[in-house]
Amino acid sequence: MKVKGFLKDVGGASRVTKARQAKFDQASANPAPYDPIGTLAKTLHPGFLHFRVTEVRDASPTAKTIRFEGAHFPYFMAGQFMTLRMKIGNSLVTRPYSISSSPFQTRGEHPFVEITVRKPRKDGFVADYLYDNVKVGDEFEGEVGLGEFHYGPIRDAKNVVALAGGSGITPFLSMAREIRFGNLDMNLTILFGSVSEDDIILRKELEECVCDKVRVIHVLSGENPNWKGERGFLDAKLIQKYSQGDTTYFVCGPQVMYDFVRKALEELKVPARRIRFEVFGAPRDITTFEGYPKELAGEEFRLTVCQGIHHTVIPAKANEPIAVALERAGLKVHTACRSGACGYCRIKVLSGNFYVCPVGDGRRGADKDYGYVHACATYPTSDLKIKINID
Ligand SMILES: Cc1cc2nc3c(=O)[nH]c(=O)nc-3n(C[C@H](O)[C@H](O)[C@H](O)COP(=O)(O)OP(=O)(O)OC[C@H]3O[C@@H](n4cnc5c(N)ncnc54)[C@H](O)[C@@H]3O)c2cc1C
Ligand code: FES
Repeated sequence: MKVKGFLKDVGGASRVTKARQAKFDQASANPAPYDPIGTLAKTLHPGFLHFRVTEVRDASPTAKTIRFEGAHFPYFMAGQFMTLRMKIGNSLVTRPYSISSSPFQTRGEHPFVEITVRKPRKDGFVADYLYDNVKVGDEFEGEVGLGEFHYGPIRDAKNVVALAGGSGITPFLSMAREIRFGNLDMNLTILFGSVSEDDIILRKELEECVCDKVRVIHVLSGENPNWKGERGFLDAKLIQKYSQGDTTYFVCGPQVMYDFVRKALEELKVPARRIRFEVFGAPRDITTFEGYPKELAGEEFRLTVCQGIHHTVIPAKANEPIAVALERAGLKVHTACRSGACGYCRIKVLSGNFYVCPVGDGRRGADKDYGYVHACATYPTSDLKIKINID
């Protein structure tokens, strides 16, 4: 039986090859005036877009939701992120933000996307700028629909437990909205960790999504004497309490939460294929990572940037990724995840030494062999000469 099927397959394939060759022979030597595949690809993935701020509203006492409208938004999946590029002083910076609105809201007469930006307690740069300065009418450029953090019906279990902390709630609000309006078929339980009731981001918006398929459980870790709900952290006991049957766990939140939650899921013996972590950007303090030469932490090096025929020398701090040095110098560097995963910021190192963050080392083997690195996850440990693309 098997051999017969195999021969049939081979016979079928050889007929297709002949038919294709015949089409090639009959084809015109002139290129087709209209390329439907290319046009479709450009519609789905248009690259950089221009959009305008049409609304700014509070999402908590320390977070703001910003709505952007544009002529056209590509399709994206609930959970994915967008990037915003902006000039702040002399710096030309980009940051990723998970889209908190839902894909269906990019259709209709006034298509829009929303992000929710949290003002950090200290050392904020872009977040502070957006939180303090953005107003209706401001214009930005950026990309929409990036990353792998979305539900996949073939890959993931139908029951999803979302483990969220702080601004990590945003991709789950997008998913909850999509479910609430009947565009996504899954059961979502959100365990949302915050310090205090005041601290809960997007509380009203989340409540509006609660239905037979969406549950939201707030978990407070601070002193909250009047709180009647869940308390503490997202530990194994709590996760188990809200899990039912075959479940996929989606995790998004601050860096410190990841180690804690990872251990809890290990304790519950959840298989790796049932856990999905969102990337969390550059680590707060690279000097805490194994292998980082701590004695260099306060140093500044010379970074020679070759861009076509132009060579520019700029300063680069040992404890900041190369991407930040380029941005501080106002040079255009294409970034998306800023976590070493996507490769958008790939550059070639021509000479010098560097340290790659072990958590964000998404380089392919060939890249390692030929001296390519991801600028968002690579730190200079000597003077460096690099080659970047002209954007
Ligand atoms: C996939 C993903 C989704 C995210 N979604 C959200 C979200 O929904 N909501 C949210 O609030 N956050 C989100 N974030 C985090 C967000 O991207 C930013 O990191 C956050 O807003 C803080 O930005 P920041 O610039 O203040 O600080 P950081 O991103 O931590 O950047 C600080 C960096 O800026 C550098 N810097 C300081 N001064 C300058 C200068 N003059 N020029 C250039 N660089 C300088 C610093 O050296 C430091 O390296 C997400 C991150 C990722 C990876
Ligand atoms: S921006 Fe994704 S790897 Fe650097």
